[in-house]
Amino acid sequence: MMEKDSKIYVAGHKGMVGSAILRELKKQGYENFILMTHSELDLIDQRAVEDFFESERPDYVFLAAAKVGGIIANSEALADFMYDNMMLEMNVIHSAFKTGVKKLEFLGSSCIYPRIAPQPMKESCLLTSELEKTNEAYALAKISGLKYCEFLNRQYGTDYISVMPTNLYGPNDNYHPTHSHVVPALIRKFHEAKVAGAPEVVCWGDGSPLREFMFVDDLAELCVFLMNNYSGNETVNAGTGKEVTIKELSELVAKTVGYEGKIVWDTTKPNGTPRKLLDVSKAEALGWKYHTELEEGLKISYDDFLNNPMRAER
Ligand SMILES: NC(=O)c1ccc[n+]([C@@H]2O[C@H](COP(=O)([O-])OP(=O)(O)OC[C@H]3O[C@@H](n4cnc5c(N)ncnc54)[C@H](OP(=O)(O)O)[C@@H]3O)[C@@H](O)[C@H]2O)c1
Repeated sequence: MMEKDSKIYVAGHKGMVGSAILRELKKQGYENFILMTHSELDLIDQRAVEDFFESERPDYVFLAAAKVGGIIANSEALADFMYDNMMLEMNVIHSAFKTGVKKLEFLGSSCIYPRIAPQPMKESCLLTSELEKTNEAYALAKISGLKYCEFLNRQYGTDYISVMPTNLYGPNDNYHPTHSHVVPALIRKFHEAKVAGAPEVVCWGDGSPLREFMFVDDLAELCVFLMNNYSGNETVNAGTGKEVTIKELSELVAKTVGYEGKIVWDTTKPNGTPRKLLDVSKAEALGWKYHTELEEGLKISYDDFLNNPMRAER
């Protein structure tokens, strides 16, 4: 268990997940943080990361920094996604190990699982068949990170864990027009259509794919819970275990934003995988379950979008 005054380093605390973990830790009474922005410490720089860990010597590390992007960003920059994420992870995890960090939690993503996996996807389906090509580089980097945690545990007896979240959304999301994930992209799209009085909004595919979405504050609660209650080599899935179609999601976002025009489906664009759902029974068996429903989470996200114009522009 982390003590309330344990020295905690949240890597990536300005990002959506890192900022949610920091909020949750503060809510639970933790108070001793080490925080470095990307410009203060580039985690790709091995020497800088080693020096940082040597001088700061954190007790616990949440590794939520990553080069993240949606399908377009990922497929356009495969090499950069692989290099940046691989270097960043290896530098942080290895420096944590060398300086005796008590426990580290590594954030991955459900894209580590095979393109065609039995649904819902269990932790044990990792590396059982081929990855999705569009984010293969990112997935391989994430698999390397979680495997490095496992191998350190097995070779040196460390207590490093990993968690694999489903699609996330919430405060501090990235609303970039082409480089964002589906929920923030839809929020921006419907908001701009509402402001412009556009009669219709065009969405990709036919709206039939089934997806799972988790509110980032729920994930943050689970991350802190796992840091205090879980040890093991196998990763832990983070999700709701509930799915909606992209059509249902789009309608819900339109309703949340107050867009009253038509939604048109461009079926010349790809749908992507028909169904992607995590099996969350492992987290539930440990005693944790999500509590924010999509409707409520989307309201909070849209408020955040409206109240943080700088973020909406990035
Ligand atoms: N968002 C999702 O839907 C989702 C789903 C599943 C898993 N995850 C996982 O959650 C983690 C965090 O994602 P997120 O959505 O919070 O992303 P995010 O909002 O983009 O945050 C990532 C943070 O990492 C920082 N960072 C990137 N490269 C860095 C570097 N070289 N040195 C130092 N800091 C660096 C970024 O800083 P700058 O912005 O200044 O570059 C940013 O603050 C990732 O591991 C991701 O795979 C996210």
